[in-house]
This record gives sequence, C-alpha cells and structure tokens, in this order.
Amino acid sequence: MSKIKHPELAARGRQELAWAESHMPVLMDIRKEFIKTQPFKGLKIGIALHLEKKTGILLRTLRDGGATVFGASCNPNTTDDATVAALAEESPGRLEVFAWAGQTNDEYYECIDAVLDGHPNIVIDDGCDLTMRLHEKRPAQLKEIIGACEETTTGIVRLKAMQKDGALKLPVYAVNNAHSKYLLDNQFGTAQSAIEAIMKATNTIIAGKVAVVYGYGWCGRGAASRFKGLGAQVGVVEVEGTLGPHESGQNRALCAMYEGYRVMNHKEAAAVGDIFLTVTGNKHVIRAEHFELMKDGAILCNAGHFNVEIDEPALRAMSKKVEEVKDNITAYHLKNGKTLYLLSEGRLVNLARPSGQGHPMEIMDGSFAIQALCCELVAKSKGKKLAPGVMDVPKEIDDATAARILKTRGIVLDKPTKEQVAYAEEWKEGT
Ligand code: NAI
Repeated sequence: MSKIKHPELAARGRQELAWAESHMPVLMDIRKEFIKTQPFKGLKIGIALHLEKKTGILLRTLRDGGATVFGASCNPNTTDDATVAALAEESPGRLEVFAWAGQTNDEYYECIDAVLDGHPNIVIDDGCDLTMRLHEKRPAQLKEIIGACEETTTGIVRLKAMQKDGALKLPVYAVNNAHSKYLLDNQFGTAQSAIEAIMKATNTIIAGKVAVVYGYGWCGRGAASRFKGLGAQVGVVEVEGTLGPHESGQNRALCAMYEGYRVMNHKEAAAVGDIFLTVTGNKHVIRAEHFELMKDGAILCNAGHFNVEIDEPALRAMSKKVEEVKDNITAYHLKNGKTLYLLSEGRLVNLARPSGQGHPMEIMDGSFAIQALCCELVAKSKGKKLAPGVMDVPKEIDDATAARILKTRGIVLDKPTKEQVAYAEEWKEGT
C-alpha cells in the first residue's frame, strides 16, 4: 500500500537514509549488536511512527535484529515519501511500509490496519492510535502481542486513561518518560525543529517579535529558550493545576517567570503575540475568544499532539475567506477585518512537510536507541506474561543511553572517588 515506486524518489530516499545513518552513531552501534544477537528472530514488529529518514534507521535496526517489520505513520501528514519509497524496495517481505504524505483520515487508518494485518508480536506506537485501534477493532489479536513501547507524552496520557478504566490489555514501556528521552527529545528536539519549521515556512525574522509559548512543559521550556536565543520577546501561558504527568502548572509558571519570561494569561497573550506556538497536549487551547483579540498578521502553530490545540473549525467559522497562501500557510481573513495565518493546518509544525523536517538526527538517535532497547526487553519477556499496564523504562537503559550519547561526542565523565561514594552512602542511610 506504500505504492510509492518512483525510482528518483527512492534514490533520494537512499541518500537521506545514508545521511541519517552517518549522524545516528548510537543506533548504528545497537544495530551492529542486534545483527550478532538477533533478539527479534521469528518476531513481527508493528510500528506507527512519523515515517522519515531517522525512523528508517530504527526500522532497519529492528529488521537486522531478526524481525519482520510493518510500518505506518502516526500522523497523516508527516511521511517523507522519499524515505518510504527507498524502504519499500529495500527488503520486501522483511520490511513493509504503508504511508505517504497528505493522507486523508480514512487512508491513515487503512495504513494502520495494514500494519495490524501483519499480525505483529510487538507494537511501537507514537500517540497511541495503533494501540487503541488494536484494542477497539482487533481484540482477538491482543493475545498475539508480547508488549508495546510508546514514544510520546500524549500516547502515555491515553494509555494511562485506558489503564484506569481497565481497558489496557498490554504491557507498554513508557519510552517518553525515560529521562534521557523527554529531557532531550521533547525539550531540545521539539524546540529546534518547531522554530526551524516556522522560519522555513514563513521566511520571517524571529528577533524583535513577541513569541508566545503555550504550556511550559518539556517542549514548552525548550521552545521558549530557543525563541529567546533568536531575539524574540517571549511570553509563556500556563494553567492552574496539574494536567501533564509532571509538576503543576503553577510551579511551571513560576519557573518560567524566574527564567525571565513574561507569564501571561490567555487573553493577555492573545492581544500582544506575533507568533503563537502551542505545546500543551490539550484541546482548544487557542480558541474563538482569543482569535478575536489577535493582531493582524499573527502566526499560529502547534507542536503539541494532533491538530486540536488550535480550534481551527472556530477560526474557519469566524472567517469570511480562507486561502492557502503558500506551502504550510493558510490565511484566515476574519470578519473583523484582520488576517491570521495558521501553519500546517494546526498539525505538528515541526513534522508537517515540506517545512517540517522533524527532530535533529542526533536527538532521534537517543530516542530511538531507547525504543530499540525497550523493544529488545519486550522480546526477551516472551513467555513470561508481563502484567498489562504502563511500565517505566529501566534506569539501566536510561543511563546507558545517556552515557552512549556522551561517548559519541567524546565526553567521558569521571567516577566519584571511593571516599565520595562512601560519604554519599552515609547521607542516604541517614535520611
Ligand atoms: P508536559 O505535560 O510536560 O507539558 C504540557 C504543559 O502544558 C503542562 O505544564 C500543562 O500544565 C500545560 N497546559 C495544559 N493545558 C494548557 C492550557 N490550556 N494552556 C496552557 N498550558 C496548558 O508535556 P510535554 O512533554 O511538554 O509535551 C507537550 C505535547 O507535545 C504533548 O502533546 C506531546 O505528545 C507533544 N510532543 C510533541 C513533539 C513533537 O515532535 N512535536 C515531541 C514531544 C512531545
């Protein structure tokens, strides 16, 4: 169903994959180990991840570790057709990909179903669509699955809700919650790639603009810091209470304030912003009452999950005319006379093609190293019948991945002296 068989595209895809391989040393090391140890021999792995060059290296790593791999995208608009074309002709029967850029919602789910038609034993998901589809439409297949791995915050929120309702029937590693994942990927990866995509789509300057970041979680704090580095005046909008899996909104707002950002409420921010970026994982964060207050020419985009953070249907309803002005930019000419620009239809701006390229390769090297190692753990648990539920990534994998990344940069840490270890132990015992 990938059916992208354009030879020129495939040639470009091979170049992209080679470029990614030369910048993902940790995953390439793991691949070499897997070639020897064959942890996935005889197993089928079903994947829903953004299908582009970095993901291609993960797919090859799992295949070379003995698996038969079936992959779809976890988002209708983030596939790199060149990568898919190259992967599709690489090893038919061992690595099958079902995706293309700009899918309709129905096509998107057809591809997810095609992955499930492969009867996977392990699932790797980003956002939980594949895992939910499996539970809702293919419950009979659940018994064929050893376990799963989930890549992102929103997916884990959904899995935990399923677990609370007693609906989750699989053991799932919360890859996102590994310290060496969210600290790097969410914070630095999302920040650089989102701002890069905004600049590429609009070709406007960031310096001197008022950039408003919604949600001061891991993604938000990275984005705020990078906007500041580019010379923007940065505003942060948070909400009371605890909505994410980590600290409360108040603590985060306080932290943003001491970091030097102007913390504002939604209405204050709407009136002053030039660029608005949502990274909350929540719904209708920017909505009609805020659009009404915005300045003419304001740019809106989202790097949280799905396309629901910015209430696009409300924006459309407030407009007398809506038009595509260029790749990734839609103009909404409001009835109040102002024009607002929405990037990438409100979908993940850092991943939506052509301006979004996704996280930098080195960042995905770390994230996918954790995915590959967790996937190996799932494979090793075959026959042990792990209890259904969301599981933390073991600390050893987390620390080992961080150490491997440092090593690729030539950074070797000192060990504490024996005296220091003993001193620290005394303190632990005392507490
Ligand atoms: P997080 O849970 O650490 O932070 C989210 C923050 O948003 C929380 O502090 C929460 O209080 C705040 N928030 C919730 N509703 C809000 C509202 N209405 N207004 C203002 N603030 C609000 O989550 P994290 O890790 O920063 O992830 C955020 C989103 O980004 C998730 O949906 C995640 O899946 C997605 N993500 C996207 C990536 C990408 O490549 N675009 C990469 C990694 C994560």
